[in-house]
Amino acid sequence: MTDAPQTPKTANSMWGGRFAAGPDAIMEAINASIGFDRRMSAQDIRGSRAHAAMLAAQGIITDSDADAIREGLLTVMSEIDSGQFRFSTALEDIHMNVEARLKELVGEPAGRLHTARSRNDQVATDFRLWVRDQCDAAIGGLQALIGALVAQAEARGDWVMPGFTHLQTAQPVTWGHHMMAYVEMFGRDLTRFRDARVRMNESPLGSAALAGTGFPIDRRATAQALGFDRPTANSLDAVSDRDFALEFLAAASICAMHLSRLAEELVIWSSAQFRFVAMSDRWSTGSSIMPQKRNPDAAELIRAKIGRILGATVALFTVMKGLPLAYSKDMQEDKEQVFDAADTLMLALAAMTGMIGDLTVNRDRLEAAASSGFSTATDLADWLVREAGLPFRDAHHATGALVAMAEGRGVDLPDLSLADMQSVNPAITDDVYDVLGVHNSVASRQSYGGTAPDQVRAQVARWKGMMKAWA
Ligand code: ARG
Repeated sequence: MTDAPQTPKTANSMWGGRFAAGPDAIMEAINASIGFDRRMSAQDIRGSRAHAAMLAAQGIITDSDADAIREGLLTVMSEIDSGQFRFSTALEDIHMNVEARLKELVGEPAGRLHTARSRNDQVATDFRLWVRDQCDAAIGGLQALIGALVAQAEARGDWVMPGFTHLQTAQPVTWGHHMMAYVEMFGRDLTRFRDARVRMNESPLGSAALAGTGFPIDRRATAQALGFDRPTANSLDAVSDRDFALEFLAAASICAMHLSRLAEELVIWSSAQFRFVAMSDRWSTGSSIMPQKRNPDAAELIRAKIGRILGATVALFTVMKGLPLAYSKDMQEDKEQVFDAADTLMLALAAMTGMIGDLTVNRDRLEAAASSGFSTATDLADWLVREAGLPFRDAHHATGALVAMAEGRGVDLPDLSLADMQSVNPAITDDVYDVLGVHNSVASRQSYGGTAPDQVRAQVARWKGMMKAWA
């Protein structure tokens, strides 16, 4: 590789006072964040407007300067919105791009905007505003998904399906119960985003570079203007931590893990071997070679997205660990990770919501699968405890012998005759057949949070009450 040609640049107009020459082209490339932080344009301009208004209210700049700044920032925003704005890599980031354009538009007053402020508190403020919006978006996305799952549970609350442990048939459960299990998981995810939002909702603005400022600023005013609960209490902390972004990523990772599990179930359930569900045309793809194929691509991709989101989480943890206080440029590496994770999560949530809403559920297949695999063996053992007074261990043993007998004959437990049953334990009576049916099995599981349709209905009602409060 030959030497990169010297770029005949002049020093940066924002901070170039002590610089004679501009940066090397590669320096500019590694240093600039405008390629991605332009996504925070609205937050940046909102923060600047709040700052300028506060400076004027405090008598730090004149009202006429503040008016010029406000008008100019509105113009900049509309230029960005309409796609007319020319972003410049030489101006590094969104903060300097906006300020430079403001200067072109309004002249001298633009130079007063950065009084009592630094890009360090500016970026911390912008990014908090951005991540806060993403918490709200994630909460909205989760509410929609929870709504779709609750609707599934309500429509098919008492449909019987096999419950699995080790992906081996364990006990019959209800479709509604299975759907509501995910409602609980996504409900916790929702509260994680809510909790993170509460903690991050403090304004770094006015922390300046790291030490605060000698100007008589009013940090409460800017905090309030930006919808923050209060200003941050330590300027060093405010400009140099990104734990709020890490909390967002952690919540997103856990949520993505839940999405991945549900996606995996949809992949399994929609296979020819299971046929528990069918994905609608809107959520499946065909194969270019195998005409019979109907592939659950969206579910597979959702299953995989956790990789990116968790990757972003690990990346930002790795960036932040070992950074001395206060700001270091390392922290510019926070944004792309969070942007990508947020986009990925929202897409996965929306796709899952669509798939769940459209799902065709095969009641007969569910029930046939629930009725095979000796799924009511535990019910038989419980019957022996209840009706014949056996200790559970002995009941377990006797039931095991009956399962072995049925398996040897290639039949299910209800197919064994009473004489067969009594050959293992003479206390068994005809009543035992009641508990061997899957419907009776699920209906009996009335313990709080159990799979009985009554329990599921109660949980559906509880969640519908919460959903009403969200609307
Ligand atoms: N683009 C920078 C970032 O994202 C803004 C803060 C720059 N601060 C500084 N002292 N160079 O972190």
